[in-house]
Amino acid sequence: MRITTDYLVIGSGLAGLSFALKVAETGTVTIISKTKLDETNTSYAQGGIAAVLETSSSDNFQKHIDDTLVAGAGICDKAAVEKVIEYAPLAIKDLVSWGTQFDKNEDNQDTFDLHREGGHSNHRILHHKDNTGFEVQRALCEKVRSHKNITIYENFFAVDLITQHHLGNLVKRHQGDIKCYGVYALNLENHKVVTILAKATMLATGGSGQLFLTTTNPVVATGDGFAMVYRAKGIVDNMEFVQFHPTALYNPSESPNFLITEAMRGFGAILRNKNNEAFMTRYDERGNLAPRDIVSRAIDNEMKKNGDDHVYLDCRHLDAEALKEHFPHIYEKCLSIGIDITKDMIPVTPAAHYFCGGVKVDLEGRTSIKYLYAAGETTCTGLHGGNRLASNSLLEAIAYADFASKVAIKEKDENEWQHAIPDWNDEGTSHPEEMILITQSLKEVRQILSNYVGIVRSEVRLKRAFNRLWTIYSETEELYQQTKLSRKLCELRNLIQVGYLVIKAAKARKESVGAHYMADYPNKKNK
Ligand code: FAD
Ligand code: SIN
Repeated sequence: MRITTDYLVIGSGLAGLSFALKVAETGTVTIISKTKLDETNTSYAQGGIAAVLETSSSDNFQKHIDDTLVAGAGICDKAAVEKVIEYAPLAIKDLVSWGTQFDKNEDNQDTFDLHREGGHSNHRILHHKDNTGFEVQRALCEKVRSHKNITIYENFFAVDLITQHHLGNLVKRHQGDIKCYGVYALNLENHKVVTILAKATMLATGGSGQLFLTTTNPVVATGDGFAMVYRAKGIVDNMEFVQFHPTALYNPSESPNFLITEAMRGFGAILRNKNNEAFMTRYDERGNLAPRDIVSRAIDNEMKKNGDDHVYLDCRHLDAEALKEHFPHIYEKCLSIGIDITKDMIPVTPAAHYFCGGVKVDLEGRTSIKYLYAAGETTCTGLHGGNRLASNSLLEAIAYADFASKVAIKEKDENEWQHAIPDWNDEGTSHPEEMILITQSLKEVRQILSNYVGIVRSEVRLKRAFNRLWTIYSETEELYQQTKLSRKLCELRNLIQVGYLVIKAAKARKESVGAHYMADYPNKKNK
């Protein structure tokens, strides 16, 4: 099967769907999503979206910019930070016009209720209760489903980007002349590989939390976009900066881990260790509202020092009714496992949450591969530097989808459908006889990354991780050559590649900065 389309969108979170809506009046749009349209990281976002809507004495763009730069540990791209933060009011306007309902103040229905999260000097997080992402995803799914120019394929798994390489031409990284012509995608319902030819391709495949055993990310987050771009000889950057969220619910029988939003600490909740000690002020003067990298490391240290597998988040001193009103989803979830957050402390642990790095894009969302654009968590825009400020991710996703839509609309007609691209050839391959080989390797990869490439790293741990991963890489490549494609095999292969990129970048950065902490180099390099 072959599909031709003006715009191809890979991924159906906020980045992909908002891009689709922006370009849909100018051509045909095909969205592919590897499972259901609404199974995305976006759907699970809790806290909200950071935006300064009105300049006042207490808050303005500059304060949001400064908070972002401080959280990013000095390695953000200032131009990207300014561009995104100044775009925020337009982003909110779009989301509202597409049907997203943000909570309003009870006493003034013309103003939004604003939460505060770690690293923010002000209340500036728009939200829908404590499940903002679900509301955003709901609104966007309705919009794209009813658009006449948009065709949606669920259960379509993007396997590899199509470039000149598939016409038999040599392509080289850093050479700047690679062009994207679309993607090979596996239809998970009939197991056939479809060739999708596109004039402009938007990569919006999200992050890779599944590289770790403890993660807030749903199972779709396997870093497919990072791996596809790297295989196509595109450029990725800042892959060492994997952000761990400080407070995922500690519930060993559950995976992925349920998130306890940072907005709860913004609301006054306090972290305590098992000795009931409110430890955060010992680590940072901002206490419970320090940026995430600092809070996660502090918790990790408390757990290791005391031999514990979690710490607690204490909300017992807060107004019970207000707590239930603002965080109904968390209240119900905790109650379902016997924890009444108005009376009991919540057991929490850090969990892999967000990839600050990714596919390198310019200020307009162009990747290093021509006619391939990217937005959202799969990118490295420079906004987050070494550590993302809370609730800046949804903002970045919608902002870069907009920036990229503008250039894609202009550039798409320079590119032609390459009908000479051959169909996928899987001659000589067979179905895997032992799925256990794939599932076991997947477990091992996640164990390696969790044990050696987590919150605290060291030269010796990274070396061990690299060596262990190499063995699994070699075995998996051999299997890949002999076997028909399956989602599990492709995801394993992608996770191994992402793991390699994280380790390689971590080995190269001989300092501790942001979310990358090396026990051998506890300080930031003096420049
Ligand atoms: P996603 O929403 O993850 O969408 C990726 C899409 O790509 C999915 O549809 C997936 O199926 C598809 N895909 C992936 N690989 C393939 C493939 N090979 N083929 C086809 N399709 C593919 N950020 C905030 O700013 N505020 C918050 O409050 C917040 N809370 C969060 C809470 C949780 C629990 C989590 C996990 C994250 C949270 N984040 C938050 C981060 C934020 O949700 C994500 O970074 C953001 O939603 C990413 O959007 P995206 O469109 O880039 O990717
Ligand atoms: C949260 O609600 O704590 C998550 C916010 C984010 O990841 O930005």
